[in-house]
Amino acid sequence: MAEVVIVSDKEEAGRIVAEAIARRVHARPDTVLGLATGSTPLPVYESLRESLAGADVSRVRGFALDEYVGLDPAHPESYRSVIAREVVEPLGLDPDRVHVPSGALEGIETAGERYEAAIAAAGGIELQVLGIGTDGHIGFNEPGSSFASRTRVKTLTRQTREDNARFFDSIDDVPMHCITQGLGTILEARQLVLLAFGEGKAEAVAGAVEGPLTASLPGSAIQLHPRATVVVDEAAAARLRYADYYRYTYANKPEWQRI
Ligand code: PGA
Repeated sequence: MAEVVIVSDKEEAGRIVAEAIARRVHARPDTVLGLATGSTPLPVYESLRESLAGADVSRVRGFALDEYVGLDPAHPESYRSVIAREVVEPLGLDPDRVHVPSGALEGIETAGERYEAAIAAAGGIELQVLGIGTDGHIGFNEPGSSFASRTRVKTLTRQTREDNARFFDSIDDVPMHCITQGLGTILEARQLVLLAFGEGKAEAVAGAVEGPLTASLPGSAIQLHPRATVVVDEAAAARLRYADYYRYTYANKPEWQRI
């Protein structure tokens, strides 16, 4: 079972996860981070500006989870643009060391394999940051995704396109397809940190943490990982059956364990 940390707000979540990331970077300056997009990880990236201040980040490497297919990489909502704007530029990372799957139509058939090869060549991902969709997806692994899946093209659900329409002029502008690390890819990261905020995520979080292991709720794959931490606010924790136990466990967590 994943470790669950229930925090008072997004800022506290951002601080806890940023500190965990900063410790990895201090221990290993060429550490490989798995980067998520969407609104959820933003407090982590904001906190990282402080946690990494003064650290040598010139060798830090990063791999984004996913990208839209067929969207101009220069579009402000392409994940390449989002990762540049929210992570690479504010933290001063080397853009050549931070990778996003290619959603270009040309060569899309092999883009997944090439991305897998790049992750493997970097020695794998040390700490993977994850959000979760209201339909239970992690990365863009929509319901039905195999737990063994690798980076590949998927069709976004109507629900995901509606959820993401806020970033575009209308739902019709949200791409139909994406390329995403598979659940099998994500499970190979050495540590997973999944964040979720707000009541809209409560059902997906409960399913991922406590529900049956099922491809119908891809986030439940985290139960297969030996080192997964879920950081949620009270609203996102509202449907967790063992919330009191998680609070008790975290309050009594030995200092040396940390996340
Ligand atoms: P959000 O998306 O962070 O924008 O809510 C999460 C996700 O789709 O994984």
